[in-house]
Amino acid sequence: MSNICVIGTGYVGLVTGTCFADLGNQVFCLDIDDERVSNLRQGILPIYEPGLEQLVAQNVRAGRLIFTRDYAEALKDAEFAFIAVGTPSGVDGEADLQYVRAAAEAITDCIDHPLVVINKSTVPVGTGDWVAEVIQKRGSGKKLDFAVVSNPEFLREGSAINDFMSPDRVVLGSLDRDAASRVAQLYLSLRCPILITDLRTAEMIKYASNAFLATRISFINEIANMCEELGADVREVAVGMGLDKRIGTAFLDAGLGWGGSCFPKDVKALAHMAVLHGTQPQLLHAVMEINRNQRRRAVMRLRRALGSLNEKVIGILGLSFKPTTDDIRDAPALEIIHLLQNEGAHIRAYDPQAMEGTARLITRIHLCENPYEVAEGVDALVLATEWNEFKSLDFVRIRELMRTPVILDGRNLWEPERLRALGFTYFGIGRAVNHK
Ligand SMILES: NC(=O)c1ccc[n+]([C@@H]2O[C@H](COP(=O)([O-])OP(=O)(O)OC[C@H]3O[C@@H](n4cnc5c(N)ncnc54)[C@H](O)[C@@H]3O)[C@@H](O)[C@H]2O)c1
Repeated sequence: MSNICVIGTGYVGLVTGTCFADLGNQVFCLDIDDERVSNLRQGILPIYEPGLEQLVAQNVRAGRLIFTRDYAEALKDAEFAFIAVGTPSGVDGEADLQYVRAAAEAITDCIDHPLVVINKSTVPVGTGDWVAEVIQKRGSGKKLDFAVVSNPEFLREGSAINDFMSPDRVVLGSLDRDAASRVAQLYLSLRCPILITDLRTAEMIKYASNAFLATRISFINEIANMCEELGADVREVAVGMGLDKRIGTAFLDAGLGWGGSCFPKDVKALAHMAVLHGTQPQLLHAVMEINRNQRRRAVMRLRRALGSLNEKVIGILGLSFKPTTDDIRDAPALEIIHLLQNEGAHIRAYDPQAMEGTARLITRIHLCENPYEVAEGVDALVLATEWNEFKSLDFVRIRELMRTPVILDGRNLWEPERLRALGFTYFGIGRAVNHK
C-alpha cells in the first residue's frame, strides 16, 4: 500500500486516482475546481466514463479515495504525486504548460519529505527536466528531496478503467532509476510490460504513439477518398490490408477523421516541437491537413447533394468525438456543424451523452430527445458518432420523417444497399457511389 496524491480530476486524474485506490493504495485526488471537488464528494462525476461512478463510490466507501482542494492535506503523507492536469493547445499549437507549472509550484510549497513527482499529463519532450527546474527554483532555500518521473498515460476515453487496469504497457522515464523503479512497483500487480527509460524518451513515446495512430486514420481516409473516385470499397481495402500481420486492423476505419482531447493537440504540439528544434515535420502537417479536409469534404458532399446548404435543415446523429464518452473537445461533429451553419444551414442534433456540453458551446442548435426527432423535416441526416443505439434505427420511419432522404454515413455504420432500396440517397466514406 502506498500513499498517492493525484493532481487534476479530469479523465486521466480521476481514473488514475480511482484505479490506484482500487488496487489498495491510499489516494488523495486533488483539484483546484471547487465545484468539481464538492460534486465528487457527493458522488457526482464531472465526466461520463463507463463503470467509473461505481468504482469511485466503492473506493470512497472503503476510505481509500478522498477528494480535496487542499495541497497540504493531499501531500501530507504522499510518497508519490501524479500531475494529471490539462495541457491544452496554446496559440501557436504548442502545449500550454501553465497548469503543469502551477501544480509543480503548489507541490513545492507543501513538500517537507521525500517525494516522487510523476508527470502523467502529456507534456513536450524536456518538460520533466523543466518541472525539476521549476521545483528547484520555487523551493530554493528549502531542503528538497524529490525526483521527477515521466509516466505518460495511454488510456482511451470510453474504456479508461480497463485500459488502466490492463494496459498494453506502462512507460516510465527518469534520470533517477531508483525513483522510476519505485513507481514501477505501483503497477506490478497489473502484470503488464513496464518499460523504464530516460525522461525525454518516455515523453517522446507518448507523442510518437498518438501521432502514429492519427497517421493511420489519416492514411485510410486518404485512401477512402480515392476509393470514392475510383470505385473501390475502403472497408474491404482495410480488411485486406489488416490481414497482413505487419499492418494489423486497428485504426484503419475511414470516417470523418480523428478528434478528441488528445490527437489534435498532441499532433499539433509534436509538429510545433519539431519546428522549434529545426526539423521539418512534413508527414505530421499532411496528417493534420488530411484530417481537416475530411470534415470539409463531408460538407462539400452535402452541398452537392442538396444544391446549396443555405436554409437547409441538417440532422446530426452523435456529437461526442467517439462513442461511450461525453467528450466533445475537437469533435468532428462540432466542426461540421460550424461549417454547415456558416453556409446558412439549420442544425438539429442528438447524442446520448454529449448534449449538455454541446449546448454550452453552440447556441443556434436544436437539440432533440432521440434520432427520430432529429429526422423530422431535415434535408439530410449525418451520422457523426457511431453510438451503438444508432446501429439499428427504424429507417422506414426515418424516411417518412425526413424532408429529403439524404444520408451521409460518416462512420460507415449502415448498409448502403438497404438504405438505397428504401429510397435514400446514401453516401458513406470511401464507398464509391456507383459501386456500393
Ligand atoms: N483524456 C484522455 O483521454 C487522455 C489520455 C491520455 C493522456 N491525456 C493527457 O492527460 C492530461 C489530462 O487530460 P484530461 O483529459 O484528464 O484533462 P481534463 O481537462 O479533463 O482535466 C484536467 C483537470 O485538472 C484540473 N487542474 C488544472 N490545473 C490544476 C492545478 N494547478 N491543480 C489541481 N488541479 C488542476 C482541472 O480543474 C481539471 O479538473 C492531458 O495532458 C492530456 O493530454 C488525456
